[in-house]
Amino acid sequence: MTQIYKLEKSCRICSGRNLEMVLDLGMQPPANAFLKETDLNLDEKKFPLRVFFCKDCCLVQLLDIIDKDYLFSHYLYLSSANKPLSEHFTRYASYVHDNFLVNNDKFLIEIGSNDGSLLKEFMKFGVEVLGIEPASNIAKMANDAGVRTQNSFFTSEIAQVLAKTKRPSVVIANNVVGHIENLRDFMDGIHHLIGNTGVFIFEVPYLVNMLGKLEYDTVYHEHLSYFSLLPLERIVQEFGLEIFDVQMQKVHGGTIRVFVSKKGTHKKNATVNAMLDEEKRRGLQKVETYRKFAQDVKLSKETLLKELKRLKQENKRIFGYGAPAKGNVLLNYCGISTETLDFVTDTTPLKQGLYTPGTRIPVKSPDLIRQLGNGDVALLLAWNYEEDIIKKEADFRNRGGLFIIPVPTTKFV
Ligand code: TMP
Ligand code: ZN
Repeated sequence: MTQIYKLEKSCRICSGRNLEMVLDLGMQPPANAFLKETDLNLDEKKFPLRVFFCKDCCLVQLLDIIDKDYLFSHYLYLSSANKPLSEHFTRYASYVHDNFLVNNDKFLIEIGSNDGSLLKEFMKFGVEVLGIEPASNIAKMANDAGVRTQNSFFTSEIAQVLAKTKRPSVVIANNVVGHIENLRDFMDGIHHLIGNTGVFIFEVPYLVNMLGKLEYDTVYHEHLSYFSLLPLERIVQEFGLEIFDVQMQKVHGGTIRVFVSKKGTHKKNATVNAMLDEEKRRGLQKVETYRKFAQDVKLSKETLLKELKRLKQENKRIFGYGAPAKGNVLLNYCGISTETLDFVTDTTPLKQGLYTPGTRIPVKSPDLIRQLGNGDVALLLAWNYEEDIIKKEADFRNRGGLFIIPVPTTKFV
């Protein structure tokens, strides 16, 4: 049997050992390991959740690794359950289609295609698509919905087979590159798959936003790397590739969309170097920056706990709004459980009826919120959708309901 947990000793990009631990979020269960009622009497597996900084290539990363089959073979996260994300996908597909597919062979591959939500948008433009998705339950959902999906992890070996069969004009990976354990094998695969003419477009949460907005709860075992452009530049160059453009996106608390091709095939946008300069100006190459981040995270936790305690003393009913993986990290790190939250709501049907990992809070349908208001308090765990959710829940607020936003630091709406 493969081991579920291992501790890596060297950097995922440069193989260096000049690593310093900068943030310790304690022992945590995998953030998406929701529990069935029948599992509540069992012990949960917990693993260290710690962030390390590589002083050689600047990659911020986890070295505590949980086996990917254990994490991803059965998955509960559905892209389609999140309306703001669906809207993002519609715009995303339109942009990629207009800029990279109109004059090319209309064939696109998405790595980590989930339930096919993004690929469906491309299909509307008559693009031939193929998804590569490791979670068998979700790959099946995509295939059942008519989105051609191969149930596997993406490796260089698979990339080389795919490239021989039919080379795609565009390869997309959305919120996936941070999950990859063997980044070098992954990049090697990309280099084979896009060849001399294709482009690789990927989105990853941006480290600058994570630091600036104290988004510490986006750290979880699935996310092995936290990217700035600095280490990304380095790894793509090693495979003869080049970042030719980068754009900021609002999703997931601040994301970069990065455009990669074989070196010299696309004109390099000036924003790439400007962004690299800005990263250095912000000190992303210095370990002190991350030590300061860790101190601020601790303060943010203390403030949140103080406010929740006060509300409990006032006998308020408090519930969690959304059961995202990051919410579970926040609850476990802060030690917030059923003594504080009566339940959490989530729009994902697969999560409803289950219990949050570690903290064992029941997950309910958001329909429940219609009966709430009048001094009730929603702890917004899905804070990345703040704008949409606050708008959507106008009735709850009009009835006297209150929202607490936990990051960067406790705020009431
Ligand atoms: P994400 O931040 O990883 O996309 O996850 C967001 C989670 O929050 C997901 O489980 C769906 C849930 N959610 C709600 O419950 N209500 C909402 O209005 C939104 C936008 C998301
Ligand atoms: Zn390194």
